[in-house]
Amino acid sequence: MVKIENLNKFYEIDGQKQYVLNAINLNIQKGECVILKGVSGSGKTTLLSIIAGLDKPSSGKVLVDGEPISKLPDMHLSSFRAQKIGIVFQNFNLLDGVSLADNAMVPLIASGIGLKEAKLKAQDALKLANIDHKANKTPIELSGGEKQRGAIARALVANPNLILCDEPTANLDRANSLSFIQTLKELHNMGKTIIVATHDSLFEELDFEHRVVEISQGSLVGRG
Ligand SMILES: Nc1ncnc2c1ncn2[C@@H]1O[C@H](COP(=O)(O)OP(=O)(O)OP(=O)(O)O)[C@@H](O)[C@H]1O
Ligand SMILES: [Mg+2]
Repeated sequence: MVKIENLNKFYEIDGQKQYVLNAINLNIQKGECVILKGVSGSGKTTLLSIIAGLDKPSSGKVLVDGEPISKLPDMHLSSFRAQKIGIVFQNFNLLDGVSLADNAMVPLIASGIGLKEAKLKAQDALKLANIDHKANKTPIELSGGEKQRGAIARALVANPNLILCDEPTANLDRANSLSFIQTLKELHNMGKTIIVATHDSLFEELDFEHRVVEISQGSLVGRG
């Protein structure tokens, strides 16, 4: 599902190349759940952003479902991403002042489906994320865990096969974190490919099949 070959990402600072990602090679099969673990600044968000096509590599190859995501023209990229990739951001990135139901419809905009169908899909996604009872609430009226479930609903609305989560439990208490992990398990059982970037130790005790990949100073530790 995700194939990364010799990926490098650097920033030029004072004429010097500062490597944030260094010769990354990683193959993730369909249906796999990968926990990307690493300390702050190790490159987790950068790697997820490149896989999502939100950021470009400096060199190397990234294939998502066979497509070279960094080379797709912008127009194709946004519809490709909307159909294939669900993203749960660390700070949820929900739109304020807009209901969860409307937030959940956002990824469908690029797909060009009708409003009626979009509403039904949003309803289904909110149900799957266990937050359909708050569909008409805006983010300000919700707890951290509820917002997070809203963000999961938005990530799932287009039924993507690849789900990327960046520090999904960073703002959650233990109970909500465990409930997030339960949702991940359901997605895993549905056959979704999942990548979670985290340094939360709760992810070290998952009770379903997964692979831990460690990143340190922009390089994968051991074999990816
Ligand atoms: N635009 C930029 N210019 C220069 N350096 C950058 C830029 N964006 C990120 N970096 C550097 O890249 C490194 C990796 O950042 P990244 O956000 O990927 O880390 P992370 O593992 O997600 O950390 P955290 O756990 O704190 O979220 C950091 O050292 C950061 O300073
Ligand atoms: Mg990060």
